[in-house]
Amino acid sequence: MPVVRLAGVTRSYRTGQVRVDALRDVDLSVESGEFVSIMGPSGSGKSTLLNLVGCLDRPTSGSREIAGQLTDRMSDGALADLRNRFLGFVFQDFRLMPDLDALANVELPLVYRGLPARERHRLARAALEEVGLAARAHHRPAQLSGGEQQRVAIARALVGQPALILADEPTGALDSQSSRMIMAIFQRLNRERGLTIVQVTHDERVARHGGRLIRLLDGRVVSDEPVVERIVEEEAAPAAEAAALPAGAAGPAGQGGEQR
Ligand SMILES: Nc1ncnc2c1ncn2[C@@H]1O[C@H](COP(=O)(O)OP(=O)(O)OP(=O)(O)O)[C@@H](O)[C@H]1O
Ligand SMILES: [Mg+2]
Repeated sequence: MPVVRLAGVTRSYRTGQVRVDALRDVDLSVESGEFVSIMGPSGSGKSTLLNLVGCLDRPTSGSREIAGQLTDRMSDGALADLRNRFLGFVFQDFRLMPDLDALANVELPLVYRGLPARERHRLARAALEEVGLAARAHHRPAQLSGGEQQRVAIARALVGQPALILADEPTGALDSQSSRMIMAIFQRLNRERGLTIVQVTHDERVARHGGRLIRLLDGRVVSDEPVVERIVEEEAAPAAEAAALPAGAAGPAGQGGEQR
């Protein structure tokens, strides 16, 4: 069963007299367990597409099914509920709450679900462990590096056990080593948990971590193919553990696979 099914989806914006067709007649299916990358020049409609898949926006025309549910006639409240139950979001700028520590940020989707505090703490801790950040649970975003903040955001996206993770430029604000760590986490979640991932990126290298690459141009899908020469990322030791080792003992970070 597809997790995403768009049929003839169009999205137009009107500003004054001018109409911009940000997406034109897009058909797209994503099966459970796929890891899809979307590329295209600035303004080609990537974020518009991701926001539609994420039910943050409505198509101007066409039909949309997400997690097996036809969304075309859903109320805003029903869409919000669908997002909370089935979707996890990761953004370029992390979008963490600055006054909450990492653990409380990760708990947020569960607060909206009305889960009791003990259960929230337990699940949020497990999600932070999954991204190697258990030791940073009580740090606020300003006390974390960019890569760590993005890992908190991934834990927050994961904590509700979504069917689908949507990431808009997840490495856009990160250095290359942090980017590789984020891709390593995505690949592990995809491979071991069967999590479906759709990511938008400007970076050809980042895109090649996925198994399928869709290219947009002027609001249309112009190619949709399996990734050839997919990059498979070795997961380095979690930063929290590496930091606990004496200076020099951790070896060159990001090389991975050499230490026994
Ligand atoms: N809220 C809006 N109102 C009017 N036009 C918009 C709006 N959002 C996007 N557009 C237009 O729709 C088109 C697609 O925008 P979109 O943000 O999806 O591009 P993108 O591929 O994500 O670009 P980038 O790589 O720069 O993030 C652009 O021409 C943009 O100007
Ligand atoms: Mg964009």
